[in-house]
Amino acid sequence: MRLDDLCSVIDGQGFPSRDAAEHPDRQSVVAAREAITAAVRDDEFLVDCMTRELDLMEHPAPRRGLVPFYTLPGYGIRFAFGYWPPGSNAGAHEHTAWTITAVCRNELTVQTYDRDQSYRRQELVPKNRFDAPAGRVGFIYEPCIHDPHNPTNRWSLSLHVTSPRDGERRDDAAACLPVLETLRARWSVDADDPYLWVQTTRYRQALIREVARFLADTEVAASERLLDRCHRLGSTATRRFIAGLGRPAPEGPDRGAPPVLTVTHRDLVLTCRDVDGGVALGVETPDGWIEQLRMARLAREAVVFCTHRSEFEVSEIPGPLTAAERHAIAEALQEAGLFRTEPS
Ligand SMILES: [Fe+2]
Repeated sequence: MRLDDLCSVIDGQGFPSRDAAEHPDRQSVVAAREAITAAVRDDEFLVDCMTRELDLMEHPAPRRGLVPFYTLPGYGIRFAFGYWPPGSNAGAHEHTAWTITAVCRNELTVQTYDRDQSYRRQELVPKNRFDAPAGRVGFIYEPCIHDPHNPTNRWSLSLHVTSPRDGERRDDAAACLPVLETLRARWSVDADDPYLWVQTTRYRQALIREVARFLADTEVAASERLLDRCHRLGSTATRRFIAGLGRPAPEGPDRGAPPVLTVTHRDLVLTCRDVDGGVALGVETPDGWIEQLRMARLAREAVVFCTHRSEFEVSEIPGPLTAAERHAIAEALQEAGLFRTEPS
């Protein structure tokens, strides 16, 4: 099955158009959930979705929360992957229109809250807690507050199919619930914030590694091509991680250590400070200086150099260093999210 096949099924279930005022019948959402249940148990479908997800990952701009890799034309129905680091949770949040959530890999635990009671008491009132193993597909029809959590020490992957109206305020929620507003604010993104680009760059590499791990675990032929894309988007450490997955490395001039590093955001201000036994490299932010990494004093000249250059070749890194040490510094700068390799 492919994404187009699933969309054809959803197309026949009587969902309202994107601009319609009404929500779909419960029956339509149940039918879509059935189709999604079959789809997410088929790796060919998930790999097809991953093709579009990687299109999204080509853009290094900050992302928070669920970012759709596809929106169904005419209906505005959104498809997005959710990535759950070990032990992470989303934070309690509200869905105000239908959503379907499928666990694709590993598992989640979902805590739900009594929405009426929570609004009335102005605090979260727990209701149910249930386990969602891989292959489980749940749906929300009535507005709901919940908090999914990955209770394991491995990453989990989920697929979210949501109404274009999810997030609209419902008429019955006259009062606000402060805890939900706090979380909503945390998800808002200032796309011009250089430090957010640093954090995003760092996290994006973690996502690429998880996508690669997922792809290498499937028997789908298209995965090979997508692994090559992960390799191309990957930092030095990510490329090494992908090589360790036991799949053949792609051919091409980009094999080995990347020669050119580019600063993550043109307005990023990097400065260094001498610290006990070494030197620290940090970012100047509106909230003050934030340390990103620390190196031995031997690398001081190299670190100072990085604060003045927006682009350089690894071989240009100055100081009494070996080639291996220059590459190690370059790798540390990438892992910190401060510099990235030029796309090849
Ligand atoms: Fe949710």
